[in-house]
Amino acid sequence: MLFRSNDPKQPIEPKLIDLAALRQNSVLFTALSDDDAWELIHLARLESAPAKHAVCLVGQAGDSLHIVLEGRVKVSLLSEEGKEAILSILGAGEVFGEMSLFDGEPRSATVTTMERCRFLVLSRKVFLPFLQSRMHVMLELIAEMSRRLRATNDLVGNLSFLNLSARLARILLNLVQQYGKVTPEGIIIGLKLSQEELGHLVGVSRESVNRQVRVWMDAGWIAFEHGTIIVLNSDALFREALAS
Ligand code: CMP
Repeated sequence: MLFRSNDPKQPIEPKLIDLAALRQNSVLFTALSDDDAWELIHLARLESAPAKHAVCLVGQAGDSLHIVLEGRVKVSLLSEEGKEAILSILGAGEVFGEMSLFDGEPRSATVTTMERCRFLVLSRKVFLPFLQSRMHVMLELIAEMSRRLRATNDLVGNLSFLNLSARLARILLNLVQQYGKVTPEGIIIGLKLSQEELGHLVGVSRESVNRQVRVWMDAGWIAFEHGTIIVLNSDALFREALAS
């Protein structure tokens, strides 16, 4: 169930948006002046969704771009048997849905909320005219799409050429880079991820991830507490990531 918290004809109240926070992690908003940012916000509608809600479904028509205001979503592909491959995890400030918006094709992946989320949603009808007079914003979006293609190339390359332990170590180090918080107990990855989801990120079954996780837990390299991963020995993981 999606909840629209405003009438699309009513402007979004500025107090509902933390523009400074959005700018910190958003290719779109860092490229915009304050005036342009508010103009864009006023062209959008606000939506919220509970955890585990599919916001976009692969193969379905779509002509809107979503900007994450709060929460995280996972971008994934599902096999006919229901197996999941996670392509990416996106958080506040990041955008999705731009592919169908630009090429008019059905959604290329399924996007599901990992926790309760709030979004700004822009339709093609309003977003394309907005972009037309702002070439620099267009370039930022193209750069972001290039970064995602590079990350996907890495993922495919890793799946094809690396063994499981090197792949898992790389994924964990990536998560450390994106979500890691250094604490006296170790580096806490600030993202609740089940071992099954970790498997879907690495491209293997939960059982295979479990086996590898157990080995590293016994060796004291990582710990798992209530779905949170704590990295205790990042040097060891780094060495593992380089071994293929
Ligand atoms: P769209 O195809 O409209 O809907 C699904 C969205 O998922 C897509 O736009 C992108 O925003 C996002 N997406 C698809 N593939 C990837 C990927 N490999 N990495 C990151 N995001 C992706």
